[in-house]
Amino acid sequence: MPENIVIIGFSGSGKSSVGPALARKLGMSFHDTDVILEKRYRMPVSRIFAQHGEKSFRSSEKELIASLLGELKTGQVIALGGGAFEDRDSRRLVKTRAAVIYLSCSQRELYRRLKDQTDRPLLDSVTGQEIRSDIKRLLHARRPHYLMADLVVSTTNRTVKETVNEITRKLKTVYDSNKSTS
Ligand code: S3P
Repeated sequence: MPENIVIIGFSGSGKSSVGPALARKLGMSFHDTDVILEKRYRMPVSRIFAQHGEKSFRSSEKELIASLLGELKTGQVIALGGGAFEDRDSRRLVKTRAAVIYLSCSQRELYRRLKDQTDRPLLDSVTGQEIRSDIKRLLHARRPHYLMADLVVSTTNRTVKETVNEITRKLKTVYDSNKSTS
């Protein structure tokens, strides 16, 4: 199995629920960068954006990722916020220090999961149509980077348990085959 696993994906794709379940199954620790940042700032992410600005959030997010993936850090499953993989330095570091898993999800399913949520500052439009277009716009911009992941696993129409089983099946296929050829 890889030293570390980093889970990426759009808001609502299931990172914060699949991550802990995967960590438990693999006997690894779990870290959610949004949760850590909310504890550090002592406020929800939406208020970090409002009071400190997105630039400050992204800077803290980038520093946290670098800290979590320091040379001696192993045995971790880390869930990144939906925009973290947009930073080139973070992408490069994560790709060298972890197996990257992209949790993909259909736009229709993302909308169903996100439409009534109020804690995503980049998805705080009022009307359903505006939220749909925000999801479409952001997902279109980010998908090329998400697809740089080592594994892509869809959470559309999948339970957390089914997703974890699919991830571990794919990880075994990749890492056991590497072991047998090494
Ligand atoms: C963001 C996603 C959020 C959080 C912040 C920015 C984004 O995390 O990091 O609101 O840029 O898509 P989730 O993916 O857990 O919602």
